[in-house]
Amino acid sequence: MKTFEINSALDMHLHLRDGEMLKLVGPHTSNTFVGALIMPNLVPPITTKEALLSYKDRINEACIEDDFDPHVTLFFQNDYSYEFLKDIKDDIIAIKLYPAGITTNSETGVSSMDVEVLRPTLESMSKLGIPLCIHGETNGFVMDREKEFMPIYESIASSFPDLKIIMEHITTKEAVALLDKYDNLHATVTLHHLLITLDDVAGGMLQPHLFCKPIAKRPEDRSALLNAALKAHPKLMFGSDSAPHPKHKKECCGCAAGVFTSPIALQVLTELFEEHDALDNLNAFVSLNAQRVYNLKPIPKTIKLVKKDFVVPAIYERDTEKVVPMYAGETIAWSIEE
Ligand code: DOR
Ligand code: ZN
Repeated sequence: MKTFEINSALDMHLHLRDGEMLKLVGPHTSNTFVGALIMPNLVPPITTKEALLSYKDRINEACIEDDFDPHVTLFFQNDYSYEFLKDIKDDIIAIKLYPAGITTNSETGVSSMDVEVLRPTLESMSKLGIPLCIHGETNGFVMDREKEFMPIYESIASSFPDLKIIMEHITTKEAVALLDKYDNLHATVTLHHLLITLDDVAGGMLQPHLFCKPIAKRPEDRSALLNAALKAHPKLMFGSDSAPHPKHKKECCGCAAGVFTSPIALQVLTELFEEHDALDNLNAFVSLNAQRVYNLKPIPKTIKLVKKDFVVPAIYERDTEKVVPMYAGETIAWSIEE
């Protein structure tokens, strides 16, 4: 049977939530990945050292069965002082910036993306060497939101050449092209954006479990993302953006945005890279690129995948919490070796 090994897999964009949901979903990342960059958009968002460290403790507790490094992040605020950031620098991997109201729990994000408004915090981050992760969407027409954000990435990248910037979960060919224009720009891409377009979400019967922000785009966008991932573009990292929501908040009127992919991420990535004859680049895409961009020394651990059918569970549950994964009930071609 065909096998493939992945060393020290890293997920550089992950939502683990809190409480029961954290206990349910955390182990589905920590059993295959050795580290992840954890998003701070809790309710309320993580903006203090106390909240950050206690969240990290809860993640460690939820993932206690595995050797796993949760790299926690702070929710960007305009009024962080240099002293505050200097004090918290060693406890965070990055700060995540959300434009206000752009996605789940981002209401207290920034209300202006004007570089001059953002300058005080960005200047401190640049001096202290704290990377900036950005959810890059405007309030424009939903299919154009990321493309319209490109000039904002450009103005931040050129105003702060020493600031490491990560364009999170890119979905467009324009974002792929921008990667090569500025030394200090990097990006993450999700599994689902390598696989689906808007057609898969809304072209037939509406698929709530594929609805996410940014929304999946056009075939030519998916091709650009896939080409960059398959060749393991050195500035592109895997970030699942696995974003679980309770089943009743997805299968309802007013569906929450987010695709839950943690339990299938490595298997489906292996299938995708094998299909395109690019398995030689998969370790760079899921680990080595992130190690270089973020200067990480990950826990050594090898995951062996086997080319054997795996039927994705229809649901994952714990107590009253229920969450539906991508490809629920479907068969995928690779499994994690027990
Ligand atoms: O689809 C999404 N879900 N996109 C985001 O930016 C946030 C995430 C979430 O937290 O649910
Ligand atoms: Zn996210």
